Amino acid sequence: MGYKEVYESWKQDPETFWMQAADAIDWDRKPSKALFDDNAPIYEWYSDGMVNTCWNAVDRHVESGRADQAAVIYDSPITGRKETITYIQLRDRVASLAGALKAKGVEKGDRVIIYMPMVPQALEAMLACARLGAIHSVVFGGFAANELAVRIDDAKPKAVIAASCGLEPGRVVSYKPLLDGAIEMAAHKPDFTVILQREEHEATLKDGYDFDWYELQKGVAPADCVPVEGNHPAYILYTSGTTGAPKGVVRATAGHLVALNWSMKNIYNVEPGEVFWAASDVGWVVGHSYICYGPLIHGNTTIVFEGKPVGTPDAGTFWRVIEEHKVRSFFTAPTAFRAVKREDPKGEYLKKYDLSNLRAIYLAGERADPDTIEWTQAMTGKPVYDHWWQTETGWTIAGNPVGIEAMPVKIGSPTVAMPGYDVQILDEAGHPVGPNTLGAIAVKLPLPPGTLPTLWGAEERFRKSYLTTFPGYYETGDAGMIDEDGYLYIMARTDDVINVAGHRLSTGAMEEVLASHPDVAECAVIGVSDQLKGQLPVGFVCLTKGVDRPHEEITAECVKLVRDKIGPVAAFKLALVVDRLPKTRSGKILRATMVKIADNEEFRLPATIDDPAILDEIKTALQSIGYGAK
Ligand code: COA
Ligand code: AMP
Repeated sequence: MGYKEVYESWKQDPETFWMQAADAIDWDRKPSKALFDDNAPIYEWYSDGMVNTCWNAVDRHVESGRADQAAVIYDSPITGRKETITYIQLRDRVASLAGALKAKGVEKGDRVIIYMPMVPQALEAMLACARLGAIHSVVFGGFAANELAVRIDDAKPKAVIAASCGLEPGRVVSYKPLLDGAIEMAAHKPDFTVILQREEHEATLKDGYDFDWYELQKGVAPADCVPVEGNHPAYILYTSGTTGAPKGVVRATAGHLVALNWSMKNIYNVEPGEVFWAASDVGWVVGHSYICYGPLIHGNTTIVFEGKPVGTPDAGTFWRVIEEHKVRSFFTAPTAFRAVKREDPKGEYLKKYDLSNLRAIYLAGERADPDTIEWTQAMTGKPVYDHWWQTETGWTIAGNPVGIEAMPVKIGSPTVAMPGYDVQILDEAGHPVGPNTLGAIAVKLPLPPGTLPTLWGAEERFRKSYLTTFPGYYETGDAGMIDEDGYLYIMARTDDVINVAGHRLSTGAMEEVLASHPDVAECAVIGVSDQLKGQLPVGFVCLTKGVDRPHEEITAECVKLVRDKIGPVAAFKLALVVDRLPKTRSGKILRATMVKIADNEEFRLPATIDDPAILDEIKTALQSIGYGAK
């Protein structure tokens, strides 16, 4: 069957399609049906099945002859360390850690926050939680203590599992002071922490509260897998929304297993036993789905890469890993290739390596610009597939279903909707528009298995954020169009979310931080185009009357404040003092117009603008930092 037939077979009979896909999963009790729609528009999948994620990702492969196959390859150019962990070793390590957590009282339904760098223990911690039916929430290492505290207060974890440090090029990031600071700031206090001591920087442990990763496991019985209901939350992953309060995306257990398993062959075209590599971070959804769960559920070998595309040690590092570990399918963000291209435009490093095992390269996380796709394709001689998805969906909404049928690539499009997703372009009134017409991208409900059923402890926010604007649809927050062949084009976000180096950030959250500066009366943050990172945040601040300190002092404090409150990952380095912000007569800040000025794009003067002269001031300010030059 080709793509069209598979997509049609899903559309004709979704229930049969998803029950058949569910056969690939080991159930403790088979679900009686796929979709549970009694509470529509809140949908659930496989709710009455009983299943365990860790069993499906680890133990079942040990039982079925993959015991000695590599499950995880750790490759850390930043430390020079490499390690291969087989499925049986992974099972024993995970069962032991789960046993230790259980002995400390962690049970099904308890939350556990994981704050770890790219080491295999991060995956082991996730899987140990899954083994017990505990709900993990991984927090990216580039977030500051305050962001960690917000997540602790929302998830109310029984325990936090962390490493003593993360490693950035030229910098050791000591995690323990950040964790201590976060726990102090948070109203909720976890019962205990588990700390993986790394030799680059050991943390000081508080007796009786902080437990050493290995010490804690001594003498405890390994834990068995605890079957959970299909709709039991497997994890919570916080992502940026319009305001400073992150959204806790919930992933339900059974749909997650079924959808990720389906995606490994049909989208990434790997067979069990082959090596799959997603160069991302466990703190992001790509890391959850395609460093940890997807490849392991499907019986692949996954790679935990602790390094950067360039500088660890050079722009050949991706190609070295692909050659050395015989990677079949490789997944990363376009920004990573932009970084490689900038250092090695002619592919000199690439020539040193043999990429014959590699079949294809997959890009996601941000818009894939045609230059980057074409360069990567020309240099590697491999097909490059863009695909589009979000933290909320957990897997591809639109992509090239290469394992079913490689569709012709149209550069600029992530290709076509995957089975399970009825993608539509809607006008402002919520009516579907014709081909090649821009509009809001929405997905007809129900969303497929593996996608978010709700937000953690915030069902009203879930309904308001995603289900209200277009009744009967899920609002993606992206705008775009579909052409006459059904190919999707993603053009822009419809909200205040920006994408910096493949990292999703909220300009609203940055504005909240800037507004807390005592000298700032008003502010706006926009995302301007950047050749390397896709977008970069720029902050505009208007000062409180009477403040006459040097502007550079204030902007430097603003930059530091965002780094301290949100974290280095915000990449907030550009702040400008201006007298006024451009607004409509009703007081709405014209952020989109400011973006157009920064990016030298044509724009129509908004009819409702209060005072057009302010735009010239904005342009002058932007020109002082090299933007808005025309
Ligand atoms: N822990 C602590 N700090 C971190 C961090 C982590 N896990 N990840 C990033 N940071 C810091 C960086 O050190 C940098 O700090 P600095 O301001 O002191 O230089 C800051 O956060 C910004 O990081 P980033 O935007 O990633 O920029 P960079 O200059 O370090 O690297 C790229 C640029 C393109 C090489 C890098 O962003 C990259 O590899 N991107 C791949 C994208 C990706 O994996 N996306 C995930 C979704 S698929
Ligand atoms: P995240 O939740 O961090 O994965 O970010 C999801 C958002 O990133 C999407 O809503 C898009 O705005 C953007 N995005 C992800 N993949 C793509 C892609 N292939 N093309 C364009 N934008 C993308």
